[in-house]
Amino acid sequence: MGRNYKIGVIKGDGIGPEIVDEAIKVLDALSANMGFNLEYTEMLMGGAAIDETGVPLPQETIQGVKSCDAVLFGAIGGPKWDNLERHLRPESGLLSLRKEMGTFANLRPAIVYDELVNASTLKPDVVRGVDIMVVRELTGGIYFGQPRELLEDRAYNTMVYTREEVVRIAKVAFEIAMKRDKRICSVDKANVLEVSQFWRETVIEVSKDYPKVELTHMYVDNAAMQLIRNPKQFDVILTGNIFGDILSDAASMLSGSIGLLPSASTGAGVGLYEPIHGSAPDIAGQGIANPLATISSASMMLRYALGEDAAADKIDKAIKKSLAKGYRTGDLGAYDAREICSCSEIGDIIANYVSK
Ligand code: IPM
Ligand code: MG
Repeated sequence: MGRNYKIGVIKGDGIGPEIVDEAIKVLDALSANMGFNLEYTEMLMGGAAIDETGVPLPQETIQGVKSCDAVLFGAIGGPKWDNLERHLRPESGLLSLRKEMGTFANLRPAIVYDELVNASTLKPDVVRGVDIMVVRELTGGIYFGQPRELLEDRAYNTMVYTREEVVRIAKVAFEIAMKRDKRICSVDKANVLEVSQFWRETVIEVSKDYPKVELTHMYVDNAAMQLIRNPKQFDVILTGNIFGDILSDAASMLSGSIGLLPSASTGAGVGLYEPIHGSAPDIAGQGIANPLATISSASMMLRYALGEDAAADKIDKAIKKSLAKGYRTGDLGAYDAREICSCSEIGDIIANYVSK
């Protein structure tokens, strides 16, 4: 009489299938003894979908995700599809899927595991204890603004935010801050852009409902610098789509490898859970990818989409334990490693820990 959940699975391209398989291995090892059952439905998106159906986001996937409790996703893209027209590229499938699913809130934690302080390119003292949550607006801003056009001798995009869009993402950030250290730094470019001035004023309005949260503001160029100079000053970073894209990549490297960090994209309905890294076509199929970001995304899925917090805790603990014991994929390999493991060996180790 366990709890049953329907999970949409989009493996994608490059290392996508390898890393998603490891996350599923871990989920299956968990579900049996945690009293719930996961039913997976594979769906196509990105390059794999282009090869199969001619488009990056087939209608079947758009319909399919709506009947799931959550969607676990690997990564998309690769040189094979780089020369296609923009709207037919794998990336356009991902952007349309986010829009279709209404996942406007992208949560990207940047955590530095104590076991890996030496893996960062920054000094251990700078990164030890870093625990940042980047809250990135995901379905608006310059990624989606109209008009947009590529002409012969010029091209343009439009950065636009409505009050409704800013208010709803700001509320998500304030709610998260309430459960953390109660500090938000809203990042914009209000010294230059009207849309950023509007963003800032609107965030200040929302902050009035959260008197316990300390709100500060930073220009995006300064924020990029501060992330490298003194990342521990940040608790929650709230920002728009393109600034969040850039800052979350920068923040991820504090941890030592982009292969470690998960993300959750949530909104009104079904959420999308994916590692923040890309499809790494250069190492695809070699069995050397780091599956931890995807396994960690599965943990976020259990926590945020399914309310299975105890199971999520088990995954988080298992990841820490495997790192503490010195098991590393090659991307982290040189640092305090006892053993360099393959992608599937790391999956086996985590699956073994969570099944106990
Ligand atoms: C990300 C990626 C995507 C983005 C690309 C693949 C469209 O970089 O999820 O951060 O820019 O949002
Ligand atoms: Mg990105």
